[in-house]
Amino acid sequence: MRISVIGCGYLGAVHAACMAKLGHDVVGIDVDEMKIAELSAARAPFYEPGLEELLMEVQKTGRLKFTTDMGAVAESEIHFICVGTPQKKGENAADMTYVDAAVTAMLPHLQPHSVVVGKSTVPVGTAGRLSDLVAQQQSSAHLVWNPEFLREGHAVADTLQPDRFVYGVFDGSEDHPAVALLDAVYSKPISAGTPRLVTDLPTAELVKVAANSFLATKISFINAMAELCEAAGADVTRLADAIGMDDRIGRKFLNAGIGFGGGCLPKDIRAFMARAGELGADQALTFLREVDAINMRRRSRVVELTRELCDGSLLGRRITVLGAAFKPESDDVRDSPALSIAAQLQLQGAVVTVTDPKALANAARRFPELHYERQLDAAISGADALLLLTEWNEYRELDPHDVGSVMVSQRILDGRNVLDPEKWRAAGWTFRGLGRA
Ligand code: UGA
Repeated sequence: MRISVIGCGYLGAVHAACMAKLGHDVVGIDVDEMKIAELSAARAPFYEPGLEELLMEVQKTGRLKFTTDMGAVAESEIHFICVGTPQKKGENAADMTYVDAAVTAMLPHLQPHSVVVGKSTVPVGTAGRLSDLVAQQQSSAHLVWNPEFLREGHAVADTLQPDRFVYGVFDGSEDHPAVALLDAVYSKPISAGTPRLVTDLPTAELVKVAANSFLATKISFINAMAELCEAAGADVTRLADAIGMDDRIGRKFLNAGIGFGGGCLPKDIRAFMARAGELGADQALTFLREVDAINMRRRSRVVELTRELCDGSLLGRRITVLGAAFKPESDDVRDSPALSIAAQLQLQGAVVTVTDPKALANAARRFPELHYERQLDAAISGADALLLLTEWNEYRELDPHDVGSVMVSQRILDGRNVLDPEKWRAAGWTFRGLGRA
């Protein structure tokens, strides 16, 4: 099938490459010339495991092209909207500028019977509004909503073989013409067993924000338990293991630590609350305010624990922060808890060095005032304390004896609860975890 993908960021670039891998003819469109130049040369403009290899593989087939020309839409029968919906400055609501601009720019090129597929995370009601615009332009064209559930760091696998497809169509009916078309787009994963659900438009939009709200709630729940464990002298990791053995609860997303960040969970729960307010249903989501507050409290808690770790004062202490990305296997630093903690420590007088295998360039753009060091050895050397804030494998595997020999004092705070406290204490370290006695 002939597909266009509008917006070539973390979502769109992966979607375009994966659609070509599934056998379709794909054009990726973006207003950012640098990004298009990189992608055209089969280089990933951001770090995502497996993406660059996939770009090289599919570009050889001639099935994947990139352009800044929105006119390319006219050659395709299906158009995926993959642009971002960040948080509005100074407000909780989502900024719809990019979605609106993408749809407005594509409309004049829309061919009869084509299908516009929204994948961006949007406030409920957006699809209905855009659907009217599409219908005014081309009465035979349709707009459907097909939310994306990929996780950064696993984006390629999540796109090629997702755990479900959700198709939101105007009448919520299996007989809607766009259903068969999307089934054809996704025929490979569907025949490999990926289930798909057909819903109406608002349900499909809500599925995405509801899923992210649930995940955020699960993380904040275990972080609230971590606060209790700290107060009661218990261990949140063992508590999570034990409650996670109940199938109804499950162990996934119960890792207590410095909390969630990234370009999705934080802004999605805020935009959801803002939209609920507009709909007169704000009471239903009041709990998300608490989810957000618990999450933000983790960051200040780490600053306090670091102060304790440094004998009560941060002034002049040389602190090395391991990790800048909001999670491992990504170079994304949007709302990264690690960077926010590093910046707070520096503001309070610590001498902070941040290291990360992939995210330093992005981190330096966002927090130019912090000091960065790519080489792990150099970053650690001479430090008074280590903070593990993003659980890259290379930090999980650190040897306490090797690291200790180049530090001034052997103190470590494990912000992700991934290290073995016994091993570090046995090597002579002062060790602090989160939610652990
Ligand atoms: C999230 C969702 O997981 C995806 O399903 C969704 O498609 C995506 O948002 C999106 O809306 O586009 P992502 O932002 O890539 O994906 O990251 P997650 O893996 O959800 O992690 C989010 C944050 O939670 C990270 O900072 C991570 O460190 C933190 N986290 C995760 C915890 O603190 N504890 C956990 O147990 C799990």
